[in-house]
Amino acid sequence: MNERVAIIGAGPCGLSQLRAFRQAQGEGADIPELVCFERQSDWGGLWHYTWRTGLDEHGEPVHCSMYRYLWTNGPKESLEFGDYSFEEHFDKPIPSFPPYAVLNDYILGRAEKSDVRKYVRFGTAVRDVRYSGATGRFTVRSADLNEQTNHEEEFDHVVVATGHFSVPNVPGFEGIDRFPGRVLHAHDFRDALEFKGKRLLIVGSSYSAEDIALQNLKYGAASVTCSYRTGAMGFKWPEGIEELPLVTKFEGATAHFRDGSTREIDAVILCTGYRHHFPFMEDQLRLRTRNRLWPPGLYKGVVWMDNPKLAYLGMQDQYYTFSMFDAQAWYVRDVIMGRIELPARGEMEKDAAQWQAREEALRNPIDDIDFQTAYCKDLSAATDYAIDWDVQSDNFKHWEHHKDEDIATYRDHSHVSPVTGVQAPVHHTKWWEALDDSLETFMDTR
Ligand SMILES: Cc1cc2nc3c(=O)[nH]c(=O)nc-3n(C[C@H](O)[C@H](O)[C@H](O)COP(=O)(O)OP(=O)(O)OC[C@H]3O[C@@H](n4cnc5c(N)ncnc54)[C@H](O)[C@@H]3O)c2cc1C
Ligand SMILES: NC(=O)c1ccc[n+]([C@@H]2O[C@H](COP(=O)([O-])OP(=O)(O)OC[C@H]3O[C@@H](n4cnc5c(N)ncnc54)[C@H](OP(=O)(O)O)[C@@H]3O)[C@@H](O)[C@H]2O)c1
Repeated sequence: MNERVAIIGAGPCGLSQLRAFRQAQGEGADIPELVCFERQSDWGGLWHYTWRTGLDEHGEPVHCSMYRYLWTNGPKESLEFGDYSFEEHFDKPIPSFPPYAVLNDYILGRAEKSDVRKYVRFGTAVRDVRYSGATGRFTVRSADLNEQTNHEEEFDHVVVATGHFSVPNVPGFEGIDRFPGRVLHAHDFRDALEFKGKRLLIVGSSYSAEDIALQNLKYGAASVTCSYRTGAMGFKWPEGIEELPLVTKFEGATAHFRDGSTREIDAVILCTGYRHHFPFMEDQLRLRTRNRLWPPGLYKGVVWMDNPKLAYLGMQDQYYTFSMFDAQAWYVRDVIMGRIELPARGEMEKDAAQWQAREEALRNPIDDIDFQTAYCKDLSAATDYAIDWDVQSDNFKHWEHHKDEDIATYRDHSHVSPVTGVQAPVHHTKWWEALDDSLETFMDTR
């Protein structure tokens, strides 16, 4: 194939895309020329942990939103790759909720095995993507951050895989400008030990709020008050964590809440989510959406309906991650390689509208899981990507149940691999007592 494909981002989604093409090549297919642009110095996306916050060594925004002592918040069996099991990577079954270093090792293990590093241009930020109707090609302008040079190249297809959990959504609150303690967004949170002995206020009621609240209590915060806008998380919290309605204002160190209550606070962490942010895409190619299960404008959740030579990966709110990214990447590969013929525009719109209507009728997390499972099945039925989605889905449902039972112990449970069928061993230390999150300690088989 003489065509050129630009993949923007070498996080899990970009790596799935590279892997999808390599798999086809391994089976004898003629694949297009691939160029993967990665702004960071190494791959892994969010899983490439850095201590840095704010701007990086090149003056670029830091991508990482991960923090020390972060353990996966969903069972690893529900994100396992269909073609590369944890057991294959680690030579033995491992527990279901590893810390980030272990997951990063796994992601990179498949990338190395697929021999895709040669396609990635590290330290290269995409600045601008434009489409020309006259040539039928995209012009991609990128910056080599080490050389401080700009480059322009043409491509036949563009795959955007830049993630959507790196640009913080930061609301303001009356009096927060005069709050005497530290105020930060979850994107800049790195180490819970900073808040040892402190009275912490967390704004938000989703995964970041839940995990950062628990983690701070685990590492010694004096108290954690979580403040919700729409609805409380409602878990059976350990002593030391409480939930209140939204904070309305600060007077010095006193936080006032919608129900009239007040708390004295030492530090505030805004767990208020992230923005889908693609400033490098020209206006008519830019995805605009909030964090939801069915972002608008994308056929099969990936193909840009206004110009099907463009695809976005992983833009959904995520129960499924790596296996869904694979299913998406395999689908996009087959569209690019002409193995999948897209229907007429009207048909694509009709299909997307049906999914959106279905999404809008979802009522609870179990509905959400069923919806995203159906989506993954729909995608993978069109390609040769294979995984047992029902096992992944069952694991998610058990996980939801365990969280409802006890939010502090759900990570102590074990789940079944959809690839090997093996039930994971139980970890040697309960999550609440496991303070060392290194790969070496986790893998220790005491
Ligand atoms: C705090 C946190 C914890 C999480 N924990 C889990 C978990 O436990 N389990 C789980 O399954 N998922 C978790 N996730 C979800 C996470 O979204 C996925 O695991 C995964 O990282 C998404 O992959 P991605 O490739 O879409 O995006 P990312 O991982 O964000 O990677 C995008 C890549 O694109 C690059 N990039 C961005 N802009 C440009 C540009 N202009 N030019 C060139 N390169 C660019 C970035 O440098 C980055 O390498 C977590 C997310 C967060 C924020
Ligand atoms: N491995 C881990 O342990 C771990 C830890 C952290 C995060 N993560 C991952 O990170 C991703 C992002 O999670 P997230 O929780 O950061 O984002 P999110 O799921 O998009 O949730 C955003 C939260 O911010 C709240 N919010 C937004 N604007 C607000 C405002 N103006 N005032 C008050 N609240 C506001 C929302 O409340 P409303 O409901 O009112 O809209 C919602 O609770 C998820 O995929 C998650 O799995 C994983």
